Amino acid sequence: MVTIDGPAGAGKSTVAKRLARALGYRLLDTGAIYRAVALAARRADVAWTDGPALAGVAAALPIEFAFVGEVNHVHLGDEDVSAAIRTPEISSGASQVSAHPEVRTALLALQRRLAAGGGVVVEGRDTGTVVFPDAGAKFFLTASPAERARRRTAELTAAGRPADEAAVLAEIHERDGRDAGRAVAPMVPAEDAVHVDSTGKTLDQVVAELEAVVRARS
Ligand code: DC
Repeated sequence: MVTIDGPAGAGKSTVAKRLARALGYRLLDTGAIYRAVALAARRADVAWTDGPALAGVAAALPIEFAFVGEVNHVHLGDEDVSAAIRTPEISSGASQVSAHPEVRTALLALQRRLAAGGGVVVEGRDTGTVVFPDAGAKFFLTASPAERARRRTAELTAAGRPADEAAVLAEIHERDGRDAGRAVAPMVPAEDAVHVDSTGKTLDQVVAELEAVVRARS
C-alpha cells in the first residue's frame, strides 16, 4: 500500500495514476469519494452543513471506480459522475462536507473496503495518517502555491474551462486554510512520510522519485 497526501494542485492525481500503472497497483482517489458525497447530498437535498444527514449519505454511497487507460472513472450507481464531481461548485461542497467528523468516520470503512487486499496507490489528505497508518510507503507531495495555481489553470483551460490564474490562486489559499485548519483530520504529513516538492520538476521526475522509494522498500 502506497499513500500520497498533500494539498490540491500538487500533482497527486496525475502522479498517483502514473505510479499505480508503473507498479501494477490499483488506484484509490479518496478526494473523489468526498466529491461524490457532496454530489449525492446535493441531489438528495441534504445540506452540506448537516453532518449527521451527510454521514447517512456517505454510509450508503454506491460508489465504484474503473481505472481505464489514463482515466479513473467514478460511478455512482449506474451513472458515470467523473465530470459532474469536478465542477467548482462540487469542489467547494467536497471541502465543506469533508470537515464533518461524522462524514470522515462514515467514510473510513468504505475507504478500507475499497483498498482491501493491498497493492493500491491511495491519494488524499489523511490517507497516511488516519485511514492507512500502516501503509508501506507514504508520501507528502507539495508544490508552491504559485506553481499549483499555474498547473490548475492550465488543466482547466485544457478542459475547455478557461480560468483566471489569480482567482485560482485565491481559491487554493482558501481551500488550503480550510483543509489544514479543520479540527478533524487536518491535512498534516504522517511522521514517517517522505516529503516530495514537485515545484520545478517534471512529472516523470516525480514519478521516478516515488517509484524508487517504493521499490527500495518492497
Ligand atoms: O483531492 P480533491 O480536490 O479531489 O479533494 C476534494 C476535497 O476532499 C478537498 O477539499 C479535500 C477533501 N479530502 C479530504 O478531506 N480527505 C481526503 N482524504 C481527500 C480529500
